[in-house]
This record gives sequence, C-alpha cells and structure tokens, in this order.
Amino acid sequence: MKSSVLPDKLISTRKDRHRFFNFGVLPPFLFFLSLFILYYGYEPLRLTRNAYVHDHSKYEGEDCDLYMGRWVPELRGSSYTNSSCRTIPDWKNCFLQGRKDRDFLNWRWKPVKCELPRFDPEMFLEIVRGKTMAFIGDSLARNQMESLLCLLSQVDTPVDIYKDSENRFHTWRFADHDFTLKVFWSRFLVNGEEIVINGTLSSSFELHVDRVDEKWTSELPGVDYAIISSGHWFFRKIYVYDGSNLTGCVYCNEPNVNSFGPERALGLALRSSMNHIKNCKNCKSGLVTVLRMFSPAHFENGTWNTGGMCRRTSPYTEREVTLDGTYLQFWKVQLEEFERVRLASHGGDWRRFGVLDITRAMLMRPDGHVGEFSGNKWARAYSDCLHWCLPGPIDVWNEFLMSYLRKLAR
Ligand SMILES: *[C@@H]1O[C@H](CO)[C@@H](O)[C@H](O)[C@H]1NC(C)=O
Ligand SMILES: *[C@@H]1O[C@H](CO)[C@@H](O)[C@H](O)[C@H]1NC(C)=O
Ligand SMILES: *[C@@H]1O[C@H](CO)[C@@H](O)[C@H](O)[C@H]1NC(C)=O
Ligand SMILES: *[C@@H]1O[C@H](CO)[C@@H](O)[C@H](O)[C@H]1NC(C)=O
Repeated sequence: MKSSVLPDKLISTRKDRHRFFNFGVLPPFLFFLSLFILYYGYEPLRLTRNAYVHDHSKYEGEDCDLYMGRWVPELRGSSYTNSSCRTIPDWKNCFLQGRKDRDFLNWRWKPVKCELPRFDPEMFLEIVRGKTMAFIGDSLARNQMESLLCLLSQVDTPVDIYKDSENRFHTWRFADHDFTLKVFWSRFLVNGEEIVINGTLSSSFELHVDRVDEKWTSELPGVDYAIISSGHWFFRKIYVYDGSNLTGCVYCNEPNVNSFGPERALGLALRSSMNHIKNCKNCKSGLVTVLRMFSPAHFENGTWNTGGMCRRTSPYTEREVTLDGTYLQFWKVQLEEFERVRLASHGGDWRRFGVLDITRAMLMRPDGHVGEFSGNKWARAYSDCLHWCLPGPIDVWNEFLMSYLRKLAR
C-alpha cells in the first residue's frame, strides 16, 4: 500500500535544505529575477486572484490575499471525523493509529485582511454539478483528493467506481450531484523513469521534460477541473533530458554535465505540463487548471531515513517560520511558470489558470503530519512527516479551492 507513495528520499531538514541551496552561483539574470519576484512578483498574482472578485465583502475582498495569514484557535474542530468519513485510508487515519492529541484540529486559517469561508459541501457540489475534477500528481495530490472526498461525503455518499491495481488511478462518483472525482498518479508530470543498472533499480532517474506523461494527458479531455501539483520527487539524482540532449543533472556533480537544482527540473516539468494544457486541442474549452503549490515536509532532528520526526502538537507562529532555501526556490519557480502560462493564455484561446498557494500556511503546520501514526510496521523506524492526517490541516487546501471555484462561478 505504502510502497508507491513513500519515495525513498524525502529529505527536508533545514540542514539538507541548505545543502540543496548551495548550488553554484546564480547568474546575474536569475539574481535580478529573484529580486523582482521577491519584491514585485507577488503583485501580478494577486491581480490574477482578484480578477475573479467582484464584490467587496469581507470575504475575499479586493485587497485580500487569502494566502497571507496565520492560524488562529477555532474550537469547532474539523467538519468530519474518522467515523463520519468512511474513506480515510488507514495510514492517514491518525486517530485509528493511536494519535492521542487532538488540538491540532482546533485551528483555522485567518488571512490578514479577510476571512476564508469554511468548507461548504453543498455549495461546492452545486458549483461542480455535472463536472469532472481530477487531481494530478504524486501522493500529496491523492492526499488532497482524499480530504475532499471526506469533506463532500458529509452530504453525498461517494461511490468507488474505478481503481487500477496499484491504486494510482481512482475514480469516485457523487451520484446525487452528478460529480466525478478522480486522481491520476504522476510523479513528475512528465516522463520520468528510475534508471535500472544491471537489473537493479538505481534510485536515480531519467527525466524527459519535453514529454508530458501520457498517462494523465490521455485522460485530460474528459476533465473540467484539473488540479496539478508536483515536488517531492525532484529531491533525487535526476538526469534531465530535452529531446535526446542531456541538459543537466540534479545532485550529480559529474564532469561535462550541467548541475541543476531540483527547482530547475521542477520548473521545466511544470512548464511543459502547463503548456500542454494551454495548447490542448481536444480538451474542454471551459477547462480550469489549478496549480497546487509545494507542500512542505517537517522532519526534525534528522531526515526521513535517519530518525527524523515530527512530534509537535501545535502550529508555528508566523515568526517561527521562514520560507527559504530550496522551498523558496520551489515557490518562486512555480509562480514563475504559473505566471508564464497565465499571461500566454490571455491571447486567443483563453484558458483559465488558478493557483492554491498553500506553501506558507502549511509551513506553519508541523503538527499536521502522519508522523509515527501510519500504522505501518515500517513506521516503527521511520516517521512520515510528509503526508497529512485526515482530518487535519490539509483540509484547508480544499477551502482555498472552494474559494477559487466560487470566484470563477460568480
Ligand atoms: C476513530 O478514532 C478512534 C480514536 O479516536 C478510534 O478508536 C476508532 O477506531 C477510529 N474509527 C475508525 C472507523 O477509524
Ligand atoms: C554490470 O555487471 C557487469 C558484470 O557483473 C559488470 O562488469 C559491470 O561493471 C556492471 N555495470 C555496472 C554499471 O555496475
Ligand atoms: C540539442 O543540442 C543541439 C546541439 O547543441 C542543438 O542543436 C539542438 O537544438 C538541441 N535539441 C534540443 C531538443 O534542445
Ligand atoms: C529534537 O531534538 C531537540 C533537542 O534534543 C528536542 O528538544 C526536540 O523535541 C526534538 N524534536 C523532535 C521532533 O523530536
């Protein structure tokens, strides 16, 4: 069950993040670009979000950036439990696995200048009535889909209608609302295969950034809402190809091969994926694409495989977290690629692109991970500080999603 979703190098302690960051010197252009993005880059994005806002209420008002904020105590708790949602996979059902503390459920996200509405399953299902939504990406895309399944199951019972043998492609139907929810597994969004040397998996990868993964693109024509994401698989040794050219390598340091930071490989993969969507001729004309930004991990006192853990029981404050190192690079590259496709899609064949900028909010939630409570034998030695408990703070991703869909629907 877990083998496919626990990649073998989920490294992200501060120490490692610094190691990741020390990759060469940024050329002046990139340096300027970083400054630009740091100080101004956020502005166009806010315009994007606001392009869909027509009212001036305290909910998502003109000035409101939903993603700048903090976690505040909220005693209502989560809107579902492990008994009212029947579809929580055992290994993310943290209470079933023995997690005792529950305070991590008693927080809500408070944007600086407005309120984020609580998830409203009826409203969500009305917006997506008759439509198909697909989460495309790695196991964290599936984690969000499972959260949505729970949130929606409070008003309409989902029926499992398709699952492949490895549970990588999975479809649920909400019959009363004629809504279809899918997940398409794709580690890198583009073709990436683990290199086999003498019949043994080498744990290094060969990535073809010009070849978008057909396993999901072939399904895209049936989709109305595509929620795409990627990230953690890029923390590996990856040979990056463009056509037949080896253009660089992540974590290699080999002679005659360009060194790429993981964010560069991620950026290239996102660019071709979003270009594919923008240019997709047989896709629905109303296709809405949402880029879900990077979901941080919280291993402390070690990495995923050296005893790193996440035992905190409450959020960090804004002052306790900094978006820096590789995570900052990831954040920037995702926004760059998002802006690129969004601007390009304004000419001619206009297609809608949105973003769920969850990174900073989730950086403050070291308490929301599965941790030692995955119930797997495996977990005695390893903590899962990457995936999120259900219910838990990951549910806010779908509140952000609902907000975005409401703006589109107005
Ligand atoms: C829900 O969590 C409780 C512990 O809080 C546990 O005893 C129970 O078995 C869980 N139920 C399900 C259906 O997972
Ligand atoms: C593959 O196996 C052969 C024979 O055992 C050996 O000579 C060769 O060095 C191996 N290649 C690699 C890349 O390990
Ligand atoms: C591969 O490299 C060659 C030589 O630098 C270049 O002419 C060609 O355009 C490159 N192909 C791709 C797909 O980038
Ligand atoms: C990490 O180590 C410090 C000092 O030993 C300890 O106080 C802290 O609780 C540890 N963190 C975790 C998550 O175990």
